[in-house]
Amino acid sequence: MKTIRLQADQPADIAKAGEILRQGGLVGIPTETVYGLAADALNGEAVAKIFKAKGRPMDNPLIVHISDISQWEKLVREIPENARKLAQAYWPGPMTIILPKSDCIPDEVSAGLETVGVRFPVHPAAQAVIQAAGTPLAAPSGNLSGKPSPTNAQTMLEDMDGRIDAVVDGGSCQVGVESTVVSLACQPPRLLRPGGITLEQLRQVLGEVEMDDAVLNPLKEGEHPASPGMKYKHYAPKANVIIIDGSYEAYCEYVNGHKEPGIAAMCYNGEENHLEVPAVCYGGKEDYNEQAREVFEALRKLDELGANTVYARCPEPKGVGLAVYNRLIRAAGFEVLHVG
Ligand code: TXA
Ligand code: MG
Repeated sequence: MKTIRLQADQPADIAKAGEILRQGGLVGIPTETVYGLAADALNGEAVAKIFKAKGRPMDNPLIVHISDISQWEKLVREIPENARKLAQAYWPGPMTIILPKSDCIPDEVSAGLETVGVRFPVHPAAQAVIQAAGTPLAAPSGNLSGKPSPTNAQTMLEDMDGRIDAVVDGGSCQVGVESTVVSLACQPPRLLRPGGITLEQLRQVLGEVEMDDAVLNPLKEGEHPASPGMKYKHYAPKANVIIIDGSYEAYCEYVNGHKEPGIAAMCYNGEENHLEVPAVCYGGKEDYNEQAREVFEALRKLDELGANTVYARCPEPKGVGLAVYNRLIRAAGFEVLHVG
């Protein structure tokens, strides 16, 4: 299959993306979080192609993207008051709300669950493509299953060229990590995946919000996660990533004490000057938004360097930093070393 390149600022290209989607094809789309791999959410056969293109396990449900609140009403059984308030506060934006699904959701989307996650993205190109398609779009992140999510069209093509019909190039993503996933299908509401909308922001609107155990911890043997995506090794480059938790001095001492071929560092901006191994930076130490924007590209760059072991600075799990921490501990398979 030849994958065509479309431009987000060309109305004819947006129309073309809509036409491909209406006919049951697959299109890569920019969103404010990461690039998504979209299909018509109401067409089970089209949605099944997403799983094939990504190599995604069939038991991992997809998020449905809308460009209008009236579409949401058809996708879920009912919209409770707290869901409306949350949508009003943070939609359009980087947040997915899980509610009991309506009958129009194909099994391919919900992967056997009784719920569906819906998101109203703020990216103008994402909204334009949904409108052009005239249907809500199911879209997981546009990476091959297990790889870091793509935050620009070029990276998405590295994984998907030849596997999908088209990619809409809308530049680099503003947030850089996937949406916050919050379930309102349980009481109290539960944070399943941290993202650009923080736990504090959710609590401002909802009051009590529980954080799912799987946000910070590996699943125990035989445990069923609230969010099926949590059980897979994820976001990982080819290299073995190890998180080093400790002061900057202790980190440098540890890394420089292990300088061997194939070792690389993943550190904050400016810290590379004191490291004696190849290093990739992922943002300023206190700039959690910048870390979120850069973490996935940094993981891919480490592969380009040919690293086989990566010592990563431990992100601070605060604000948007919680999302960065959540992605990086998964990339590391939960391997954290405490130093100093
Ligand atoms: O920002 C995003 O959310 C991006 C862009 C493209 O919108 N999409 C994305 O989709 O990250 P994906 O499929 O890579 O991640 C969706 C996560 C998975 O961990 C999945 O298991 C979980 O959300 N999920 C989806 N529907 C769910 C449901 N009904 N109940 C629980 N978890 C659900
Ligand atoms: Mg994903």
